[in-house]
Amino acid sequence: MSRRVLVAGNWKMHKTAAEAAALAGEIRSGWSAGAVEALLCPPFPALAAVAAAIAGSELVLGAQNVHWEDAGAYTGEVAAPMLREVGCRYCIAGHSERRRLFGEDDAQVARKLAALWRHGISPVLCVGEDLEQRRGGRTRQVVGEQLTAALAGVVPREDLVVAYEPVWAIGTGEPAGETDAQAVAAHLRERLQSLWGAAAGEVRILYGGSVVPDNLRRFLSQPDVDGVLVGGASLRADSFLALLREASL
Ligand code: 13P
Repeated sequence: MSRRVLVAGNWKMHKTAAEAAALAGEIRSGWSAGAVEALLCPPFPALAAVAAAIAGSELVLGAQNVHWEDAGAYTGEVAAPMLREVGCRYCIAGHSERRRLFGEDDAQVARKLAALWRHGISPVLCVGEDLEQRRGGRTRQVVGEQLTAALAGVVPREDLVVAYEPVWAIGTGEPAGETDAQAVAAHLRERLQSLWGAAAGEVRILYGGSVVPDNLRRFLSQPDVDGVLVGGASLRADSFLALLREASL
């Protein structure tokens, strides 16, 4: 079992290409590569500029979304071969903002994972419960079902990354407690184990939702939490570099 810690920045709909390249350049110059893997996920129009800014470094590039077909009449969409060509090694799939605001469902997320894997891109599959589901005591059921549905018919893939992001913790400044995050991560790994057997031990499970440099270690010290998916605190070089430093301790 060798799960390399992953610190992923989801820049969401922030940064023009020029701003993104500048941020990536600052991160590059402030960071010395080591045990931690650092992933930058800018918006589509900034992917090429960030790829150029991090070329030759150990920073890695990811996208935030993908269409499930390789090409076709899908106005406004972006396909996996396009992401691959621009240098994406990872792509977020099923983020709660996409599920909630754009109607993405589990079946679509499953097709997105298949498209990414066809083209050698590792998915960062997001799962998480909303406040009502949490209050109803349904967290494990909800995330378990999201996981199972997204992986229907998939052979074990150790490069899968799962991000547990409770919806109520995203952008609120109120992260989950670390023991809750651990309990859900362990539950996800158990589910994976029942689907995939030993490969579950290699899959990285991230926590996301109001992660900042001050609370990152609390999550990373949990046995089943292998990294973080960060929104707000990834948008400035100083705070993202502080996250990388904390993760490297
Ligand atoms: P925040 O870190 O801003 O809470 O966002 C989390 C998130 O949604 C990352 O995908």
